[in-house]
Amino acid sequence: MNAPAEKFPATIAGYKTFELGAFTFSRDEYFVTITWPVQGGRRQSHTISADAFLRALMRDVAWGFFYGVVNFDPVFGTRNLYGKVEFFGGRFNEHYHNNGLSYVEVFETPVAMKLIKQILADWVNSGFDPFAAPMETGDAAFGVKHGDNLAAIDRYRVPTKRMPGLEGDSPLRGDDNGYPINRAFADVPQDQPEIHAEPGFEKELHGFNLFAYLSRSDVTWNPSVTSVCKNSLFCPTTEEYILPIIHGNDRVEWFVQLSDEIMWNINDKDTGRPRARVLMKAGDVAAMPADIAHQGFSKKRSMLLVWENANPEIVKMYDSKQLPPYPVEF
Ligand code: PHB
Ligand code: FE
Repeated sequence: MNAPAEKFPATIAGYKTFELGAFTFSRDEYFVTITWPVQGGRRQSHTISADAFLRALMRDVAWGFFYGVVNFDPVFGTRNLYGKVEFFGGRFNEHYHNNGLSYVEVFETPVAMKLIKQILADWVNSGFDPFAAPMETGDAAFGVKHGDNLAAIDRYRVPTKRMPGLEGDSPLRGDDNGYPINRAFADVPQDQPEIHAEPGFEKELHGFNLFAYLSRSDVTWNPSVTSVCKNSLFCPTTEEYILPIIHGNDRVEWFVQLSDEIMWNINDKDTGRPRARVLMKAGDVAAMPADIAHQGFSKKRSMLLVWENANPEIVKMYDSKQLPPYPVEF
């Protein structure tokens, strides 16, 4: 607290410091510190472990601020206003908010995106991959600034243009995406389906082994759009350790647990109050409501299918209570 702007240092432990509107961002060997203005001319400061902050920031960069709210932790995060983006301190934490310690500021998306990409480029050290599981990337996030890892932070979500494996698909092919099989999926069969297309339909019909495809994913907690049917998006992903964000949904999303297990902590989206804990086992299907925030924990790398509704009108329908926050009435 009490960090007057003129005393804000340009670098700490070799890391640049950054400002976005009235927010300040700095990092040291272990931690990221964020400050924002609160009542009475004071500033609230907030501390997040550097590795956790960078994993969350990487998702905001790669996903273009995602759907709804991206809570980096129970206090700080971003909310996508689709064209603009809100940064907040304490807004979705009832204790901060009800005690005058919350702050929000809205930015044009390209302005905020440019700044967070600069933070990521400066603060990710050589050897640290914010998409990798901790056991695969070690403790390189920490310490005084040492090098960078621009290749790791340059992965963006590429929707497939066609079914993976068909001519003209996205760069990752369904049948062998060129990555090695992950250590956790050594037992996943790699055989591919036989495809017998009618003459003339060879370029229209395809199939691939999704389990084999996912067994080669080199990233965690990064749903990739592998099929698009109007507004229906199938986004499979491989999960290990902790979802780096507490996601505040702005629409219903469905989860299909394809392998192993994920434990989910589910909170009220606006207050952060706990609502449920759900253990999803292989084969389980769940609809995650539009009014919750959730974070998953996967003790062994697992496969999850996230089924998203990309209809841009749907957010208004939930906000105006035209639709209930859940999809089925039992
Ligand atoms: C989600 O917020 O629903 C979500 C995000 C990333 C994942 C899985 C689920 O990898
Ligand atoms: Fe979600």
